[in-house]
Amino acid sequence: MKHLLGIEGMQPEEIVTVLDTADAMLEISQREIKRVPTLRGRTVINVFLEPSTRTRVSFEIAAKRLSADAVNVSAAGSSLAKAETLADMVQNLAAMNADVLIVRDRTAGVPRMLAERVHVPVINAGDGQHEHPTQALLDAFTVRQSLGSLEGRVVAIIGDIAHSRVARSDIYAFTKLGAEVRVAAPATMMPPGIELLGVKPCESMAEALAGADVIVMLRIQQERLDGPLFPGVREYARTFGLTQEKLTLASPDAIVLHPGPLNRGVEIATEVADAEPSRILDQVTNGVAVRMAVLYLVTGAE
Ligand code: NCD
Repeated sequence: MKHLLGIEGMQPEEIVTVLDTADAMLEISQREIKRVPTLRGRTVINVFLEPSTRTRVSFEIAAKRLSADAVNVSAAGSSLAKAETLADMVQNLAAMNADVLIVRDRTAGVPRMLAERVHVPVINAGDGQHEHPTQALLDAFTVRQSLGSLEGRVVAIIGDIAHSRVARSDIYAFTKLGAEVRVAAPATMMPPGIELLGVKPCESMAEALAGADVIVMLRIQQERLDGPLFPGVREYARTFGLTQEKLTLASPDAIVLHPGPLNRGVEIATEVADAEPSRILDQVTNGVAVRMAVLYLVTGAE
């Protein structure tokens, strides 16, 4: 694995290799001393040009558990404020003999553009509404951990499908691993032609939830919208929010995922987010293991 730019270009076996490697990494994270020397002497630079708590901290902890030196760069306080281009800034960071660049940017395609310019592995930590591959890998890992396998499982992805990079990456990952994927969204948040990705668009949440094994709830990506795409929050919560009552439509063993940050009372009720079927905090725990696996695989470390 040279770069991790998206799930779209990955083979199912490559995804499984990441998940299998993450199994070993999860074990390291459960030890009292959570550190192995695998990436000792290597430098990982986290370039986060969009807000992030989970993903940024998760990559930093992942790098440190592998003994790499981790450096964080954010837009505020960087030379981007002096009109330097992102490509120039990243080339300069790479020139400090960085071993891995992790990039989050609000524009789709930026990680790929940078990967063509630097001789360092680039990991996409979310590019606009395009892809968020490590989120999809940790989602797939969490499903495998809870249900054993993705093969033949019914996954319902619900919410702002059109503007969500998590939705796109999840669709690629889940379908490649053999799941049946349904998506449900208000018409204004359903991208035209979504069925070309091999998923079933549903008009109602009930249709998507019927017998589902996995429910992925998404936040409305407010920061990418010019104006409201829905009459109001209460109306949204009523029609596309996950409540205890709607949960009964899914399989009795269904699990609930959400990439975070949660907007409680909007796309997910507190009674669901904090209850047994929720795997939301497991996703966060697993995220560190999956990112350790990705760092290990892109560096080709022994
Ligand atoms: C997601 C993102 O940034 O795309 N969050 C995350 O990385 N955990 C989803 C979101 O912001 O809603």
